[in-house]
Amino acid sequence: MRNKLNDLTNAEWLYWTSTIYETSFPPDATHHLRKAHGAMKPPELMAEIVRFFTKKGELVLDPFAGVGGTLLGAAMVRREALGFELNPRWVEIYRRIQREFVLDGHRLVKKGEAPGGREIPGKMVLGDCLELMAALQPGSVAAIVTDPPYGVAHGPTGFKAETNFAMINAEEKKDFGNAASLEEYLGLIKRFGREAYRLLPEGRYLVMLVGDRFADGEYVPLGYMVANALREVGFKFKGLRLWWNKATQRPLKPYAVGKVFVPNITHQNILILRK
Ligand SMILES: C[S@@+](CC[C@H](N)C(=O)[O-])C[C@H]1O[C@@H](n2cnc3c(N)ncnc32)[C@H](O)[C@@H]1O
Repeated sequence: MRNKLNDLTNAEWLYWTSTIYETSFPPDATHHLRKAHGAMKPPELMAEIVRFFTKKGELVLDPFAGVGGTLLGAAMVRREALGFELNPRWVEIYRRIQREFVLDGHRLVKKGEAPGGREIPGKMVLGDCLELMAALQPGSVAAIVTDPPYGVAHGPTGFKAETNFAMINAEEKKDFGNAASLEEYLGLIKRFGREAYRLLPEGRYLVMLVGDRFADGEYVPLGYMVANALREVGFKFKGLRLWWNKATQRPLKPYAVGKVFVPNITHQNILILRK
């Protein structure tokens, strides 16, 4: 039977459906530029996701494109890609990578190191994704694969103190990460979801990476909350994969040891939603 969604064999398809998703991607040749962002994703991971939810040559949209993890991954597996990003600093890093690197097979290498290497084609546009998505034609993208800010008040303490989280746009009102409350954040996710729904053809997928959080002494299952907000605008929540990049795991933090159970959240949710 013809595979309607992607170019994988049945065995490759099956092996990609486990809910536990462990990877060990080493830093690639562009990592030293992308790491300024702090919440960037391995292009190899994004390539695997894009490869599952599209066929060769189809168009993938990443509305929260950062320094281009999805666009680089899409280029590795020969898909078209379009990214939107609010912060000019991240757009410039991606464009520098486009100028200085090419693809040698699936690998990103410095220009000059691979004669005949392929250019990185995906275009990244500076601006607010809600406005930019509204300007695209209905049904015009084959998949939306993205990694939005994870909720509110990452602030100068807490989250930021624990990571090299440079992606915060302190003064930018349109940044989803600056929502004043969880309710406001989920409201923005619904606005995003309505645009995403309009842009996808029937039966195609929105894939979102969303980390859970721990705040005010309680676990916040942000992944499920985001999935539910997207169900409310029409998507079907088909499932998730719990992604863990073993190679870059930080040491466990001794939060309240001997007093209260506090988890070290070592996974991210890859939410899979279908129109
Ligand atoms: C988790 S990061 C994405 C990182 C990306 N996956 C990568 O590999 O670089 C989320 C990004 O969304 C951007 N962002 C936040 N609100 C936005 C908006 N309204 N429109 C476009 N981008 C936005 C942030 O500036 C940030 O770079």
